[in-house]
Amino acid sequence: MFKEKKYGRTVKNIPNGFDSANDFFEHLFNNKDMIWMGQNTNHLHKKDYIYNEMVECLRSRQYSKYPPSEGFSKLKNLILDDLNLKDSDILISSGGTDSLYLAMNVILEPHHNVVTPDPGYLIIDNFASRFANEVIQIPIYNSECGYKLTPKLLKENMNENTKIIVLIDPLNPLGTAYTSKEIEEFAKIATHNDIYLIHDVTYKDFAREHYSIAKYAPSNSITIYSFSKIFGMAGLRIGAMVSNHEVISAVKSIIINDLGTNIIAQAGAIAGLKSKDKWLDYIVNTTRNNQKLIKSMIDTIDDVFIVNYPSDGNMLAIDIEKTGINSEELAEYLLDKNIFTRSGNYTSSRFGDKYLRISFSIPEEEVIIFNQEFLKAIKALKNK
Ligand SMILES: Cc1ncc(COP(=O)(O)O)c(C=O)c1O
Repeated sequence: MFKEKKYGRTVKNIPNGFDSANDFFEHLFNNKDMIWMGQNTNHLHKKDYIYNEMVECLRSRQYSKYPPSEGFSKLKNLILDDLNLKDSDILISSGGTDSLYLAMNVILEPHHNVVTPDPGYLIIDNFASRFANEVIQIPIYNSECGYKLTPKLLKENMNENTKIIVLIDPLNPLGTAYTSKEIEEFAKIATHNDIYLIHDVTYKDFAREHYSIAKYAPSNSITIYSFSKIFGMAGLRIGAMVSNHEVISAVKSIIINDLGTNIIAQAGAIAGLKSKDKWLDYIVNTTRNNQKLIKSMIDTIDDVFIVNYPSDGNMLAIDIEKTGINSEELAEYLLDKNIFTRSGNYTSSRFGDKYLRISFSIPEEEVIIFNQEFLKAIKALKNK
């Protein structure tokens, strides 16, 4: 018998005509005309720096060997440089997801609880629920807290069993980011209470400003790093976790994939970091410009607003509550027009009906199609 998990399970509504969520996603994946705004992925890389290195790795048939189990030193050093955390320890993993699971596994004892923001990235809550007694999901869908988990909210909600605080920065799905003052305050709370801050910086390069928790709380933080978003490498499944030597050593004792992370993905990741200054501005500027185009369209509709504008991520949430339209119905309508978005319940059970999440690291011409179809969708569904 499998024990059912109490918290944070991703709501996986299986659309009509499919046997499983996997079948549904495979169907979407195979539709080459689909505009991909549902996974915060990045479809803007035009230069071939990353691609060429991976092709070279294939050509040389280096993939016949196993890579070093904890990752190539070159890649580890490049990530630490990128984070400006040269004195930290690091483990290469098959994505931020892997790192999040390992972090929860290594830190938590059965009596602990984990504090997370709601809305948030529910896979994290799900992992936490496997190892902790409780996941305290703090409602942050309101302007008083600035749509983010604040040090004040944390102090009000944590207790003596709190062991991990999850800071997603910028936050999926709302795109809120932390100020240096907030980061310092969180670091103080963590060090005084012997708690770990999991700083998930998956979207850091899209943010206007970004501050590292590890600088202020090196012994009480774990930084989660991903190549899926700014590097546009989601399908390659590669990321890392960065912390102090004690944490990383403990994690090494529990890793599942003892034979290392995909060698082609590591070659791409090394190339991505080495070439970052050559493409970063283009990706970030195009993403921000797309966000402006979406905002101009949203501003023409009554009763609809962008929850946090500008978003510091490459995604944002559009609040549609006042229209009376259901967010799943809206996502389905758009899917029918070959636009993949996410209804809010993918990132919040409590607030999910209120918003649609869209990501916009996509070509501008696709944003223009989205804008046209979104206007039509609101009109059609409101009049139903
Ligand atoms: C906050 C957050 N962390 C981690 C991930 C997953 O990262 P990866 O693809 O590196 O596993 C996502 C993906 O959407 C995310 O939103």
